[in-house]
Amino acid sequence: MSALIGLQCHLCKSTFAPEAVYACANCLGPLEPVYDYSTITLTRAEIAARPKNIWRYRELLPITGEPRTGFHSGFTPLVRATRLADRLGMRELYIKDDSVNHPTLSYKDRVVAVAATRAAELGFQVLACASTGNLANSVAAHAARLGMECCVFIPDNLEAGKRLGSAIFGPQILAIAGNYDDVNRLCSQVADRYGWGFVNINLRAYYAEGAKTMGFEIVEQLGWRYPQHIVSPVAGGTLLPRIVRGLRELKQIGLVDGELPRIHAAQAAGCAPVVAALLNGDDYPEPVRPATIAKSIAIGNPADGYQVIQTVRQTGGSGAAVSDEKIVEAIHLLAETEGIFTEPAGGTTLAGTISLIERGVIPRDESVVVCITGNGYKTTEVVSGNLTQPVHLSRAFKDFEAWQQNRGAEASGLSRQVTA
Ligand SMILES: Cc1ncc(COP(=O)(O)O)c(C=O)c1O
Ligand SMILES: [Zn+2]
Repeated sequence: MSALIGLQCHLCKSTFAPEAVYACANCLGPLEPVYDYSTITLTRAEIAARPKNIWRYRELLPITGEPRTGFHSGFTPLVRATRLADRLGMRELYIKDDSVNHPTLSYKDRVVAVAATRAAELGFQVLACASTGNLANSVAAHAARLGMECCVFIPDNLEAGKRLGSAIFGPQILAIAGNYDDVNRLCSQVADRYGWGFVNINLRAYYAEGAKTMGFEIVEQLGWRYPQHIVSPVAGGTLLPRIVRGLRELKQIGLVDGELPRIHAAQAAGCAPVVAALLNGDDYPEPVRPATIAKSIAIGNPADGYQVIQTVRQTGGSGAAVSDEKIVEAIHLLAETEGIFTEPAGGTTLAGTISLIERGVIPRDESVVVCITGNGYKTTEVVSGNLTQPVHLSRAFKDFEAWQQNRGAEASGLSRQVTA
């Protein structure tokens, strides 16, 4: 059972009933669920015995009944990335691989599983969102699974794979002439007037909690210990602070001990309001107009920017803003060293990690977890210009041999023959 007791304002600490309220009535601050941790008696062994999905930590998630969706969401691989570590001169490097999250291949399946379950509990009939693509994919899939009506709002310039990734589930898709920040503003007005369940607006307090599961899993998969560094992408700012909130909660209920990791924020240079604020010593990000290939994280006015900045500072972390060119290079590097194909958001996080290593912020002998949050098959246009092209051959063996001979005497396993 969940230990949820209500919602609390992050800023002024006013408390509210656990309903669909999206901002503090006193100061408009963001709301967070509050739990009675003293009622939680969860052990490592109990968690280990449960199914491998986000609900294995259900006592720390904001639902009051049974989970309704997300039975295969979460518990994604934590990959020990030895070949990538060698290339970067690192001792202990891990990829938390949400590019293979179920069912829509991004970290959003965690947050939507929680928000959709809560939406159903609270009696919403329509599930909706303002999205840069991945969230819309996930909302559409979970709504289909729950048999809810669905309406997703996206900017009208998204990649074809992101549009298709929603359309296949049959939602209403509204492509808005404008960027994500315009879409989000419109959705706030719709949420007020129509009473739809917008996962990242009026259900945001519940939605955001789903992101804690990324932190829970990292600790569990490392054998119940903290790494020394975590690098997270930042768009609206949901994920990064919730990873740390999850890490703190595990300590609070006695499942892990030790020093919190330093958490670092990665953004594309073409949309880096949070990294800029970290550098300038500001508490709130100054909104920017995004211009980057990393469309899924192109949010110029992040809803939870304040929490990201606070969390990074509290843990002694830092920020990294990386060019589109470095993002594409990092996508290739991750694919070629670890066999993991990520989208530009993941390229941003890895390129950011490399920049932090080069700056000496992440020492080469310390442990690092890089959060890869989306899948490259949805954004093939960003890499298709510089890929190896297939060699076209007939079915005849002699043509294959001619190809081998033309390749010259390269010392490669491909040229080795085992029979005469
Ligand atoms: C692939 C991917 N990674 C990361 C993010 C970061 O989102 P946020 O900072 O809002 O948690 C997003 C979301 O918009 C995303 O689609
Ligand atoms: Zn308040």
